[in-house]
Amino acid sequence: MPIVRVTRRLHFSAGHRLHSPELSDKENREIYGLCSNPNGHGHNYGLEVTLKGEVDPRTGYVVDLKRVRETVEEVVLRDVDHANLNVDVPWLEGTIPTAENVAIAIWRRLEEVFPGGVLDRVVVSESERNYVEYRGE
Ligand code: NI
Repeated sequence: MPIVRVTRRLHFSAGHRLHSPELSDKENREIYGLCSNPNGHGHNYGLEVTLKGEVDPRTGYVVDLKRVRETVEEVVLRDVDHANLNVDVPWLEGTIPTAENVAIAIWRRLEEVFPGGVLDRVVVSESERNYVEYRGE
């Protein structure tokens, strides 16, 4: 049976500060630059969630993307939208909230609600020019 990948694109707005407690202030400034400014800054994040599977012959769908949107809103966006990623989101606690770490954490949230290997890809972007992709490896 053909395997098809379907993607839902979503957005959220959030603030963060990139700062490692294991590094000195000087090292943090060297690595993260303006992103390490003490009071943080914000992004309009892009999020893409890709699921894969066989096409259900009854519906013609792999999954109902409306249900995917509702699930991602409930499990991820409700926690991160208009939040400070450094302090407001329990499942990001203890991580430096780079796009990389946010993508991994979102994958782990979604893996619990989309079991059985259907989750294929999580993409997080902070700007038009950069995005990170995590595929559970
Ligand atoms: Ni940033």
